[in-house]
Amino acid sequence: MRIDLRFDQQHVLVFGGTTGINFGIAEAFAVQGASVTVVSRKPENVAKAVERLSVHGHGVAGFCADVRSFESVGTALDSAVERFGPLDVLVSGAAGNFFCEAKDMSANGFRAVVDIDLVGTFNVARQAYAHLRKPGAAFINITAPQSSIAMRFQAHACAAKAGVDQLTRVLALEWGGEGIRVNAISPGPIDGTEGVKRLMGQTDEALAQAVGRVPLQRMGTLDDIANLALFLASPYAGYLSGAVIPCDGGGALESVKPTLEAAGRAAAAAPQL
Ligand code: HXC
Ligand code: NAP
Repeated sequence: MRIDLRFDQQHVLVFGGTTGINFGIAEAFAVQGASVTVVSRKPENVAKAVERLSVHGHGVAGFCADVRSFESVGTALDSAVERFGPLDVLVSGAAGNFFCEAKDMSANGFRAVVDIDLVGTFNVARQAYAHLRKPGAAFINITAPQSSIAMRFQAHACAAKAGVDQLTRVLALEWGGEGIRVNAISPGPIDGTEGVKRLMGQTDEALAQAVGRVPLQRMGTLDDIANLALFLASPYAGYLSGAVIPCDGGGALESVKPTLEAAGRAAAAAPQL
């Protein structure tokens, strides 16, 4: 179920927008009348995304770039702006992740994730600044619960996404005077995505455990995140900037989920005063 907010005549660019959550965001804007550009590394992902977005009948473009390369981000942006004009909405969502204990992680593995998630977000912001429509543009970063909750096997993503949150706040400070709003969305586990496959596995038991940790007792959907992105880019969010907004069914509220049974055992074991 999607909220209905029109973006006719607007240009929306989504870095990492060819698959998963970011594609869901790109598609929601395409449905709402925007011209949409998606950028990622793999030509096959770009081609498939462009084909899927084109059915909505508005302008669609796709370009290959690796967000770790400042130059290739700039080239993709130049091509996009040449096609559809200045950016009304910019989304930075490219990310990489794998499960690995810090003591076993190679320096290159750590660097790869920090380079994609954090340095990539800086590259996108720095190169796009000149192309943002001022005043009025919205810049949306995609972060993760790892930015504020320490998680085992996630040293790289925790460090990188914490940086993304702070970058979001600093840019909101620096760009606010020009009427650019900068916010971040922090999704919880989103059904069917690469992130969930990599971090939670695909067995029924693993997925049930993941759902069990969410107060709303379900995984998120692509539309849950896309709806928030549409809202953040809309005039209804005109006084919202510098916010890192969880969209996670309440999942980030609690790091350990106690049970009454366990609490009963703990109370029984406690010294009587
Ligand atoms: C240990 C690993 C590894 C693994 C890669 N490396 N996978 N180390 N365990 N499973 C190491 C490699 O050995 C190498 O180090 C270094 O990382 C770089 O690997 P490459 O394959 O050369 O890198 P590259 O081709 O640039 O790929 C980057 C990547 C890859 C991050 C490793 O997985 C990728 O492109 N991912 C994009 C898609 C993705 O991850 N989506 C999920 C996002 S979910 P050495 O030392 O050997 O050279 C997310 C949060 C989800 O962000 C939150 C859910 C709640
Ligand atoms: P995904 O489908 O793997 O999306 C990642 C996208 O980024 C892909 O389109 C990928 O395409 C692109 N990408 C990766 N490395 C890139 C690079 N170096 N340069 C340019 N593009 C690159 O994963 P997802 O699970 O939907 O996650 C999307 C975002 O949501 C990420 O920021 C992630 O951290 C965040 N998130 C996800 C979840 C979840 O439940 N899935 C939860 C919290 C946060 P190419 O391979 O073609 O480059």
